[in-house]
Amino acid sequence: MKFTYYGHSCFGIEIKGKKLLFDPFITPNKLAAAVNADEVEADYIFVSHGHEDHIADCVSIAKRTGALVICNWEIYQWLLKQGVENVHPMNTGGRKSFDFGTVKCVHAQHSSSLPDGSYGGNPMGFVVACEKNFYYSGDTALTLDMQLIPQGSPIAFSIMPIGDNFTMGIEDAVRAAHMISCHSVIGVHYNTFPYIVIDAEKAKAHFERNGLELKLPGIGETIDL
Ligand code: NI
Ligand code: MN
Repeated sequence: MKFTYYGHSCFGIEIKGKKLLFDPFITPNKLAAAVNADEVEADYIFVSHGHEDHIADCVSIAKRTGALVICNWEIYQWLLKQGVENVHPMNTGGRKSFDFGTVKCVHAQHSSSLPDGSYGGNPMGFVVACEKNFYYSGDTALTLDMQLIPQGSPIAFSIMPIGDNFTMGIEDAVRAAHMISCHSVIGVHYNTFPYIVIDAEKAKAHFERNGLELKLPGIGETIDL
């Protein structure tokens, strides 16, 4: 499986030749200037919640690629109004099989409004069961609900926010990784805005001290998982 980082909380994961894109936010991100949103490929687009920094390029990429967008009910309805036709609605606790694997929507403790102020439903995380099961938490605080995440499918790696202020910071991300029994974490949602600037070396050292690995791929970089 290949993981490509597009900056902030936007990343692609390739599974069995299918391209999954998460939380497309590229065009407004100055740090991702080298990435062209018009060239990003996708067969599926996952949207964790309605905030601009997770959905900004969703409509344009969905229309260009015809990718199936997977999101909550309220974002589904909003995307239909924006003219996106290929959308699959889910909600927290729901599970559904696709050709790359099985998706389960899980609780995220955050908020969710759409860029035009529309109600965005509840934020979600995704557990994807495939060759290597993974968990993308979306924007969230640390919650005891995370204890439920690995049940039924041990998590090989997770993608979690580490920027603090709006979401978990590194201390809580370490606690979350322990809670889901996952050794390998890819950090996202940091450095994009002044509120969430971190010291990457300190963050990696904190994970290492706690027996965990924090991967921080560069923007545009692809790593093998
Ligand atoms: Ni958010
Ligand atoms: Mn966010």
